[in-house]
Amino acid sequence: MKSILSLTVNGVARDDAAADNLLLVDYLREVVGLTGTKMGCDGGECGACTVLIDGQPRLSCITLAQACTGSEVETVEGLADGSRLSPLQSAFNEALGAQCGYCTPGMIMAAEGLLRENPSPSEDEIRQGLAANLCRCTGYIKIIEAVQFAIDELGSKGKAA
Ligand code: FES
Ligand code: FES
Repeated sequence: MKSILSLTVNGVARDDAAADNLLLVDYLREVVGLTGTKMGCDGGECGACTVLIDGQPRLSCITLAQACTGSEVETVEGLADGSRLSPLQSAFNEALGAQCGYCTPGMIMAAEGLLRENPSPSEDEIRQGLAANLCRCTGYIKIIEAVQFAIDELGSKGKAA
């Protein structure tokens, strides 16, 4: 059965007809057309599908779209300001935090959630914040360095992530 789903995606209020069993990742990719959010394991194990729901990192492959009624959902596309990358997006580029890039949107959204809660996490806290996100390519060192690069940039500019 379909019903109207009312929520905000990347700051834009939407009302869409959505099946009650539609997953959030499929809603974002197929209904909204935001394909930055990736489907990896399809079972809550890899973190590739991580988005922010009301500011908290959540796995969109195990979240029903209808459960987000009234919520603010943010995807990796929502971080950029037009063509200007966010500090974390830019850091993953500058510090070579991505290789194939498949895990990158989920990593960035998990890191975004972490930095909003804790703007100056230690390396251990970064590792804990990204513990639910798997990468097959980088060995994680470059990913941790990318988050630290963003923290340094934000610190020097005095801005939020
Ligand atoms: S696709 Fe959602 S956790 Fe892997
Ligand atoms: S960069 Fe390829 S899976 Fe992480």
